[in-house]
Amino acid sequence: MSSAEGASVTGTNIILLGPPGAGKGTQATRLVDERGMVQLSTGDILRAAVKAGTPVGQMADEIMKAGKLFPDELMAEILGEHLDGIPLSSGVIFDGYPRTERQAELLDELLANRNRKLDYVIELVVDEDALVDRITGRFTCATCGEGYHDRNKQPKVAGVCDRCGSTEFKRRPDDTEETVRTRMGEYRAKTAPILPIYAARGLVRQVDGMADMTDVGGAIAAILDKA
Ligand code: AP5
Repeated sequence: MSSAEGASVTGTNIILLGPPGAGKGTQATRLVDERGMVQLSTGDILRAAVKAGTPVGQMADEIMKAGKLFPDELMAEILGEHLDGIPLSSGVIFDGYPRTERQAELLDELLANRNRKLDYVIELVVDEDALVDRITGRFTCATCGEGYHDRNKQPKVAGVCDRCGSTEFKRRPDDTEETVRTRMGEYRAKTAPILPIYAARGLVRQVDGMADMTDVGGAIAAILDKA
């Protein structure tokens, strides 16, 4: 197969980057529903490990409750295992990864080893003052994971998930104001510095994350339609 033929069947791979509450998970879910892309959320992967009570989960539980970051090398190893199960034809949304310069280096290796390339780093630009409210008001469907908010996005029928009809909802233990402020500090200190690295490679596209959720989705769609 020629490289041009190979490229034509390869899905678009993107990173959604932004501080806690920027809307990464919300927009990733839309892309899964509307474009059949695969969401790889490292936060979701770690939460599943916590729920399963594995050794990784026990380690992650303590770290996440403190709002700190899980170790880089182990995170990349776990992410690689998930990436292996996704066909090349499916585009991948990296939601919450990378979060450090080292993780960005490791992602380059993970992708190169699997004949994937990074197409875009979509930065959700937000006003940090609004994020504490977004996060402390957030809840999700316990069955399908659809995200809601006490004020910004309530289920159309109170107490019933719009997406799957479940009546069970949950809140994250790390969504307290104190932990959110630690998570934002981690983002500023360790994650934001990777943006200039990707910008130098011409990969960064900025989207106004304070706009209405539908408009944010439209702006992301416009970027992907150019890919
Ligand atoms: P993770 O689960 O990735 O959390 P996060 O990055 O802190 O991001 P959030 O999930 O809180 O926010 P989001 O941007 O997805 O916003 P959402 O769409 O939900 O990570 C959790 C922890 O796991 C980390 O602290 C760390 O310990 C560990 N971890 C994860 N990945 C790691 C890694 N790579 N390395 C090391 N450790 C790692 O939106 C928030 C709310 O706002 C929702 O209620 C939503 O409805 C609402 N909303 C969304 N968009 C809008 C809008 N446009 N207008 C109004 N409201 C909106």
